[in-house]
Amino acid sequence: MDYLTIALPKGKLFDKSVKVLAKVGYAADNVVEDSRKLVITNEETKVKFIIVKTMDLPTYVEYGAADIGIIGKDVLLEQRKDVYELLDMGYGKCHLMMAVPAARVLPNIMDYTHMRVATKYPNSAVEFFDKMGMQMEIVKLNGSIELAPIVGLSELIVDIVETGTTIRENNLKEVATVYPSSARLIANKVSFKLQHQRIKKLVRDLKKVLKEEAQP
Ligand code: PRP
Repeated sequence: MDYLTIALPKGKLFDKSVKVLAKVGYAADNVVEDSRKLVITNEETKVKFIIVKTMDLPTYVEYGAADIGIIGKDVLLEQRKDVYELLDMGYGKCHLMMAVPAARVLPNIMDYTHMRVATKYPNSAVEFFDKMGMQMEIVKLNGSIELAPIVGLSELIVDIVETGTTIRENNLKEVATVYPSSARLIANKVSFKLQHQRIKKLVRDLKKVLKEEAQP
């Protein structure tokens, strides 16, 4: 049997993804997020885990360096990589939104036209503002987006909210939702054909486990 290479993203989806995969027989006791060892092989189940940066994960899957992976829908919508999306895992729920400093909330969304927006999601932001008919100046950052309006780098942000803690603690107010997101199982298109039986079984087993978990 060929190895199945599974890409796991560092960050918020990591722990839950490891737990869920263990429940469907893809346990990896020594897979830890801050591992210095970046490829972890389980000879028994013929699985290799690779641990990658969230924003790089779809690239590993698109090129077939990983057969499958777990990643947020937000990253898929932002990057539009050529991969199959096989399953909504149901966890990692969050949404992309637009926020401004609470003291500078304006009556209408259109009132923010021509302002500067800091974001890790430039494609999603441009698409959203285009749909609204708003011309904006986009500044791409790689993290800690909430800092930008505080220090005057931008007037507003487009960023992910999960619990709401980060925007609250930085006195920001959400003024529009861009789109909702949750974790997705994705597959390389060639791997999906070559390892069809195995991946199909994995999807079936994951569906079952996730359904059981969702029940009260
Ligand atoms: C994400 C996001 C927000 C925060 C939202 O950042 O960009 O900053 O989480 O979560 P909350 O609503 O639960 O507070 P992440 O932790 O991925 O780090 P980053 O800002 O460095 O990208």
